[in-house]
Amino acid sequence: MNDLEAIVASAQQSFDQATTPNDLENAKARFLGKSGQITELMKGMAQLSVDEKKSRGAAINQAKQAIEAALTARRQALAEAELQAQLQAEALDVTLPGRQRGAGGLHPVTLTMERIEQLFGSMGFEVARGPEIESDWFNFTALNTPEDHPARSMHDTFYVEGGSLLRTHTSPMQIRHAVQHVKRHQNLLDAGQRIPEVRVIAPGRTYRVDSDATHSPMFHQCEGLWVGENISFKDLKVVFTEFCRKFFESDDLVLRFRPSFFPFTEPSAEIDIQFQSGPLAGKWLEVAGSGQTHPNVIRNMGLDPEQYIGFAFGMGLDRFTMLRYGVNDLRLFFDGDVRFLSQFR
Ligand code: FA5
Ligand code: MG
Repeated sequence: MNDLEAIVASAQQSFDQATTPNDLENAKARFLGKSGQITELMKGMAQLSVDEKKSRGAAINQAKQAIEAALTARRQALAEAELQAQLQAEALDVTLPGRQRGAGGLHPVTLTMERIEQLFGSMGFEVARGPEIESDWFNFTALNTPEDHPARSMHDTFYVEGGSLLRTHTSPMQIRHAVQHVKRHQNLLDAGQRIPEVRVIAPGRTYRVDSDATHSPMFHQCEGLWVGENISFKDLKVVFTEFCRKFFESDDLVLRFRPSFFPFTEPSAEIDIQFQSGPLAGKWLEVAGSGQTHPNVIRNMGLDPEQYIGFAFGMGLDRFTMLRYGVNDLRLFFDGDVRFLSQFR
């Protein structure tokens, strides 16, 4: 290896060892700079003869070009490496799962409400909604509830200043809806004609001074009312049985109408349900109160009890939801625990 080849080899090695553009420029200076090795060799040619200058000059030039080529190659390699490093650092992993906003869902009791509206809707029932802050008249008096009835006591009912109260059931909607219905058809009544049947459900929130695993101070009911010329207890049985079978998606259940008492119905019955299979098989579970609408209530609707007759029921929606999903503590519905609620999405 002659001196020039040795310099080229040494330059190549220095360039290869440079890991940053700055290192590389320093290495370049040692060979090609003002006092670099190649520059010094050029200066040293002054003493040579013309012929020697020619051949030596050509050789030095060749070496210089080789060094410049090595420098350019290394510059490109470093720039490329830097770009790669930058791309790596900024890399976007499109396969990484995104950070999502939790998708919400409807509350299980809301799902029950929607389901009930849909099922009764398919049987020709309208849906009515009314106020949760109610007057004594609609909640009790118009429903034939005597002054001394225990439901009216302070420890059963939340009273609001000024004599109003939080409705203890959805039954006031029987009166509110029927009165509106009768008003809409007053011209028919005035002409001595029959008015169209009242056929309505009224779901909503209700309140009582109650609290345990199956009773909550705020709960949900759905009222049902069907009043016409010839609506009997038999229709109640058919409608409610049909509804329950559709709601629970099972023909494998039976209903029991157990005699009971409500001031606004006569006769009255609690409706119990019994599943023939599944985890609750064999047990009787109370799901609603019901009965034939009391003549005094028909009168408070603005109708003649000699001509109009009907039935009403009031069911506990939280109870229906518990049965449908197999939940054993009502309070879970109102704790707002996402781990519980997200199971119903
Ligand atoms: C009534 O509220 C009557 N208004 C039902 C009715 C309507 C009878 C129309 C006749 C004609 P009762 O108090 O039994 O009845 O309540 C009905 C249902 O509401 C019960 O079967 C139960 O499922 C539910 N319920 C009552 N209190 C609570 C409570 N504190 N928490 C959760 N559910 C309750
Ligand atoms: Mg009851």
